[in-house]
Amino acid sequence: MLEVKDLHVSYGPVHAVHGVSFAAREGEVTVVLGANGAGKSTSMRAVAGFHKPDSGTIELDGRSTFGLPAHKVVRRGMALVPEGRKIFAPLTVEENLRVGGYTASRSKADKTMQDVYATFPILHDRQHSQAGLLSGGEQQMLAFGRALMSQPRLMLMDEPSMGLAPTMIDTVMSSVKAMAERGIGVVMVEQNADAGLELADTVVVVTRGETVWTGTAAQAREDKTIVHAMLGEAALDGA
Ligand SMILES: Nc1ncnc2c1ncn2[C@@H]1O[C@H](COP(=O)(O)OP(=O)(O)OP(=O)(O)O)[C@@H](O)[C@H]1O
Ligand SMILES: [Mg+2]
Repeated sequence: MLEVKDLHVSYGPVHAVHGVSFAAREGEVTVVLGANGAGKSTSMRAVAGFHKPDSGTIELDGRSTFGLPAHKVVRRGMALVPEGRKIFAPLTVEENLRVGGYTASRSKADKTMQDVYATFPILHDRQHSQAGLLSGGEQQMLAFGRALMSQPRLMLMDEPSMGLAPTMIDTVMSSVKAMAERGIGVVMVEQNADAGLELADTVVVVTRGETVWTGTAAQAREDKTIVHAMLGEAALDGA
């Protein structure tokens, strides 16, 4: 459903991404592994329309979304769950969800919100709480919920497990799996190779701004030493 080929993205003179390629399929999880500064977030933000790419192709169901602004990308069915969650701390849980549903009519948003609450009952319990008061794991659920409000067919998730306690990481990973099982295509950036491999159908390794390896999760497990070598020290944490 999503095909990204030879993506190049710069920050002024800094050519941060130069040759990132990956694909995503309905109901499957593509995990993007890479060390700090490899260009994972830059790639996700560019694909989601938050940063204009220089060149390459980005196609969703055969139609280009290259260079479209984020609100148009969302309407095409692709939503980003950003690095660091970026929830609106002073707003309530429900207000955060409304922000995510801004492209839909009020009645449609209300219905989608009920679906989100059914998926994440904790958000229902905390609907009137200020989002900034939620735990890290709950904030991640809210970030997922806010993205789900646009009824995406594809979700880009940038390090959803970052900064969470191990038990919370398991909960978050189960949620990611559940979203894929509902048929959503998932692209998940992850720094921990082992956590990522647990969930992945396809694995993409990005090193210094380029895709250097793509394979199935089974191949990545077999080639674990190779994958780890490409990732460097970062991948060895927790291995
Ligand atoms: N706003 C910016 N301005 C200039 N350079 C940037 C900016 N954001 C990122 N970069 C640079 O682009 C490169 C890729 O950064 P990016 O955040 O995409 O990496 P990442 O793979 O997501 O890393 P991490 O694992 O730390 O999240 C890095 O060299 C970084 O310093
Ligand atoms: Mg990042």
